[in-house]
Amino acid sequence: MEFAAFSDAESGGARAPGRCHAVVGLQWGDEGKGKLVDMLASEHDAVVRYNGGANAGHSVVVAGTRYSLHLVPSGILYPGKAAVIGNGVVVDPWKLMDELKGLRERGVNTSGLMVSDRAHVVLPYHKVEDGLREDLLNRGAASEGGGGPEKIGTTRRGIGPAYADKAHRAGAVRMGDLLRPELLRERLQLAMAVKSPMLHGLGMTSEQERDLAIENLMAQCRDVGQQLGPMIRDTTQELHAMLRAGKSILFEGANGTLLDVDHGTYPYVTGSSTISSGIGTGTGVPASRLTRILGVMKAYTTRVGGGPMPSELSGEIAHNIRERGREYGTTTGRPRRVGWLDLVALRYSVMINGATGLALTMLDVLSGFKEVCACTAYEIDGKRVDFFTPDATELARTKPVFTSFPGWSEDISNVRSRRELPANARAYVEFIEKAAGVPADVVSVGPGREQTILG
Ligand code: GDP
Ligand code: IMO
Ligand code: MG
Repeated sequence: MEFAAFSDAESGGARAPGRCHAVVGLQWGDEGKGKLVDMLASEHDAVVRYNGGANAGHSVVVAGTRYSLHLVPSGILYPGKAAVIGNGVVVDPWKLMDELKGLRERGVNTSGLMVSDRAHVVLPYHKVEDGLREDLLNRGAASEGGGGPEKIGTTRRGIGPAYADKAHRAGAVRMGDLLRPELLRERLQLAMAVKSPMLHGLGMTSEQERDLAIENLMAQCRDVGQQLGPMIRDTTQELHAMLRAGKSILFEGANGTLLDVDHGTYPYVTGSSTISSGIGTGTGVPASRLTRILGVMKAYTTRVGGGPMPSELSGEIAHNIRERGREYGTTTGRPRRVGWLDLVALRYSVMINGATGLALTMLDVLSGFKEVCACTAYEIDGKRVDFFTPDATELARTKPVFTSFPGWSEDISNVRSRRELPANARAYVEFIEKAAGVPADVVSVGPGREQTILG
């Protein structure tokens, strides 16, 4: 089966040689990218992660079995596909080892995995720093009477500190360095000369300090380096060799557009370029090679952690959406904040990514609501605006203007064509397409591979 999302004559279809396609999240993460990547992986030769790290949690359900992937590309579930972790990812090698072990224990063949030698390593001190910084912000917020305006609510996976060290350069460790003990020791010594006093200042415990002793770090790195060594490669060259050989590549975005470090709701964002143009820097394959960019979006909105979310709901509707959609984080288990769909934000995300089509997920979750709403404009200081500002302070001041749609009561999780959708559900999808300015190439009505409406 070829997916309509990628099958037009202009691109020559998904199976056309040397094609590059992308799946990106258009909201604040958890849009269902894992499901879409898993589905589309069948038509590509390689699946490539280009950003983020173990902050990502991508769930894939195959024949009723659920897999949660964090660092490993979601294409891994197809034997024989290359699964590539590009240079733009920050890799916690111990988490990666655990994830691979878990997959192998469940019978998944992981031999297709390769990791860029230039991907930066998330070291134990990055996670300590991430946690201590968060604690500091929480303390600050509490002393100001709660509310937590400064709390980012990170996953505490060391993502921000690892990307910051990448920019600092001196003392940063890349995956290839795990195989060069002399150089690694120098880098770790330099890193700890800077980190130690900072972490002390932030309240590092003596137990944490012991864990971060250079010899401990060296021993852990040596061990993990030996185990991952055969997978560490120059993935930029590998990817270009694949393209020259006419193979097709699917890029898997992590996190979401509104969490992008430049274009998201800064500072309530992650540390990487989550959007389609991050593919160029994060893999060495120019983003100009992309012929299809599928933007994944939920039929409503969720967000984990701090930061503004204009269409946020509380009370019974939020509770119902959260429970029906099982809106609890794949990575941290935190309940996700829930809101109606924000079409102002969606238009912005489509624009920033150059999305060529939408994959609208979780439509089934909205079954049973008498009324479904979507935010179609904002109000700031009594004035109506219909464009999105990623400025967190400004966005926090906006009030949503909702448009209401009549709901539908039917269970749609077994629907497989647009025609079979209840008329009100179809009208909702069509309204979204019109607002976004691009078609919904895929409508998803459940977590399973087969619970999908194409075209
Ligand atoms: P990702 O981070 O974008 O890959 O998304 P997550 O995996 O974190 O969260 C999406 C959740 O929704 C997962 O539990 C998926 O199995 C599930 N899911 C995906 N698509 C659908 C859908 O159309 N309907 C329902 N009910 N669940 C879905
Ligand atoms: P996937 O790939 C949802 C959020 C965190 C926090 C902020 C910064 O599953 O869609 P970080 O640990 O990255 O420094 O946290 O970003 N966040 C995500 N939220 N899904 C994700 O990934 C996320 N990755 C990061 O909750 O608010
Ligand atoms: Mg997720």
